[in-house]
Amino acid sequence: MPDKIESEVKSSKIILAQGDITKQTTEAIVNAANSLLRGGGGVDGAIHRAGGPKIMEECRKIGGCPAGEAVITTGGNLKAKYVIHTVGPIWKGGNAREEETLTRAYQNSLALASRKGIRTLSFPSISTGAYGYPLQEASKVALNTIGNYLKGHPEIEKVVVVLFSDQDFHIYQETLKEIGLR
Ligand code: APR
Repeated sequence: MPDKIESEVKSSKIILAQGDITKQTTEAIVNAANSLLRGGGGVDGAIHRAGGPKIMEECRKIGGCPAGEAVITTGGNLKAKYVIHTVGPIWKGGNAREEETLTRAYQNSLALASRKGIRTLSFPSISTGAYGYPLQEASKVALNTIGNYLKGHPEIEKVVVVLFSDQDFHIYQETLKEIGLR
C-alpha cells in the first residue's frame, strides 16, 4: 500500500497529520497499548515491528500498565527516542467511565513527557481501533485534553495527532475547528 500522503493541519501547537505514526520524528511517540504491554495489532503492532525487540524487552521489565496510565521505554530503531505506552479504555457503551479513562490516558502521557523533558510528541487516536471508542467522541476528548494541557505547560512545544485513515483525519479536523483550536 503506498505511503499515506502526509497532510497537516496546523493550529496552536497541535498538528494533525495523516499517516503512519512510526514515521514521526517527534522525540516521543505514544503507543495505544494493552494493560499487559504484550504488543498486539494496530499501532502497538506497528511500533513493535518498526522499533524492534528492545522496546518489548523494556515492556517486559515494566510488566504492565493500568488503563489510563502511561509508562515509557526506549524508541528502539524508531526515529523517536522514546515510546510512551498508554492504555485507553475498551468501549463498553459509555457508562463505564470510558471518557474519564481516555482523558487520563492523554493527560498521563503528556505529564510523563513533561517529567522526562520531552518537548515534542505524537499521539495516535487512542482506543478508536480494536477498543471500539466512537471516533468523533474520542476526537473531542483527545483534542480538548491536549489543548487544555498545553495551555498550562509551555515546556511542551509540539503535539502531533497522527490519523491513519483519511476519514479519521477529517473527523479530527472538524473537531479541531469546532473547539476553536484552529
Ligand atoms: N499509525 C497511526 N495510527 C494507526 C496505525 C499506525 N501505524 N495503525 C493503526 N492506527 C490507528 C487505527 O486506525 C485507530 O484509529 O490507531 C487507532 C487506534 O487503534 P488500535 O491500534 O487498534 O488501538 P486501540 O483501539 O487503542 O486498541 C488497543 O489493540 O493493538 C492492540 O495491543 C493493542 O490490545 C491493544 C488494543
